[in-house]
Amino acid sequence: MEIKGFIFDLDGVLVDTAHFHAECWSEMAEGIGIKLSQSDLDNMRGVGRMDSLEMILRHTNKQYADQEKLKLAELKNQCYLQKVNQLTPGDELPETKTFLEKTREEEIKISLGSSSKNAKLVLSKLEFNELFDAICDGTDITKSKPDPQIFQIACEKLELPAQQCIVFEDAEEGIKAALAAGCCAIGVGPKDSPAFRKAHYVIEGFEGWTPKQLIKNLKQTFS
Ligand code: BG6
Ligand code: MG
Repeated sequence: MEIKGFIFDLDGVLVDTAHFHAECWSEMAEGIGIKLSQSDLDNMRGVGRMDSLEMILRHTNKQYADQEKLKLAELKNQCYLQKVNQLTPGDELPETKTFLEKTREEEIKISLGSSSKNAKLVLSKLEFNELFDAICDGTDITKSKPDPQIFQIACEKLELPAQQCIVFEDAEEGIKAALAAGCCAIGVGPKDSPAFRKAHYVIEGFEGWTPKQLIKNLKQTFS
């Protein structure tokens, strides 16, 4: 197995925006009388905007017309944008920038693989855009994670077969998508998280890791 590409999810992997999504969905849901539990919010991680809304609306018998659904999604997005607009360089998760820079030095190609339509804005707030060879986000896909589409497109953009790419993900739906695409899947987050049951490897974050060491450890777990 020769690894030539890294594909990074954004929210919860490179920057701690996953809780912005959760806070804004909770607020929007409360506005229509729905109280979301932590596990509801965890299950929505990595899932695209309209699919997330559908998950919320399963909590009510009330029927919403398409126009009303778009309004609710827009309400949530305005809340999210307010938070994201306050991000500045340095707000990324620890050592993610160094890890991306080292990845470039080692001539491993880098793509983003995020379901978010706001991904480019977040990357520009962090001044991360130039670290990527390719960007795949919510504007590239018709099917949300756990569908493999986002990672299949990322591999195409990197011009690499899936088996040569590692996906970094914080969400169970993202791990499922990576595996379905045929990529190697690394969970980023608590080692004992059930979300990472199927991941090939788990790291708590990027602190202390170099791409070389990570690939070495991964290979050892396969041998
Ligand atoms: C994913 C997040 O990255 O993007 C989800 O994990 C979010 O929580 C999804 O719903 C879509 O984001 P956006 O910014 O297009 O509404
Ligand atoms: Mg994520």
